[in-house]
Amino acid sequence: MLGIYLSGTGNTEHCITKLLGLIDSEAEIIRMTKADEEKIMEKIRGNDTIVLAYPTQFSNAPYMVRDFIKRNKNEWSGKKVLCMTTMGAFSGDGAGCSARLLKGYGAEIIGGLQIRMPDAVCDNKMLKKPLAENRRIVREADKKIETVARDIIENGKYPKEGISFISHIAGLFGQRLWFYNKTTDYSKKLQISDDCTGCGLCSKNCPMENLRIKDGRAIAGDSCTMCYSCISTCPKQAITLLGSKVYEQCRYEKYEG
Ligand SMILES: Cc1cc2nc3c(=O)[nH]c(=O)nc-3n(C[C@H](O)[C@H](O)[C@H](O)COP(=O)(O)O)c2cc1C
Repeated sequence: MLGIYLSGTGNTEHCITKLLGLIDSEAEIIRMTKADEEKIMEKIRGNDTIVLAYPTQFSNAPYMVRDFIKRNKNEWSGKKVLCMTTMGAFSGDGAGCSARLLKGYGAEIIGGLQIRMPDAVCDNKMLKKPLAENRRIVREADKKIETVARDIIENGKYPKEGISFISHIAGLFGQRLWFYNKTTDYSKKLQISDDCTGCGLCSKNCPMENLRIKDGRAIAGDSCTMCYSCISTCPKQAITLLGSKVYEQCRYEKYEG
């Protein structure tokens, strides 16, 4: 089994690592990055069963994930895929968005799993929750993953969340119809304030290689996949996307234990 994930603040990385650790201790898990695309495709060619995991964004799969699936459309035929998303509150068919694409390219969708985790958006005050609440959410997520893993191991039964027609309608009308057009140019909207010291952490971690350092400052390109990796790790809290001020950076590690 092969696990591939995109994760900005660590939620999805935690969830896929926990699930695969429980259902297949020999599974390999790889972070999706632009630089490693060829390596990932090699691994996909050598594996029949794949878990594809990513954060839900506006009830959709991130651009990076959708583009990855489309660019490699000839590679999915016959693959068994579990589509897994993490979400802050509501996903509708977050898992279904990649499942439909993959199915169209010949993959067999063995399941869909949508797990609630702390919200990654840290530059919008309304989405901020107290630490204790985020810790409770993570504990619930862990319990859910354990239950799902037991069902897979004992009954060979995969969850079917987010992949039904009803979920499709919920995701479409609940969010995508309203947000889809509004967010299409967000790939170029990353803001970097004068607090940036050019330390390079953001460019090192960006899965899309969308950030570079020039003259002691970070500069963003136009291919941000909105994962919030840079925003959640910048030591100066100098980067924003949906809002204009970072309230408290979100990182999975804060909610453990
Ligand atoms: C740009 C953006 C859009 C998001 N949209 C949604 C959404 O539509 N529904 C939802 O429940 N959570 C949404 N979230 C929250 C993330 O899906 C959630 O926090 C996820 O667990 C982050 O995972 P990660 O740490 O692996 O990146 C959004 C987060 C971002 C950054």
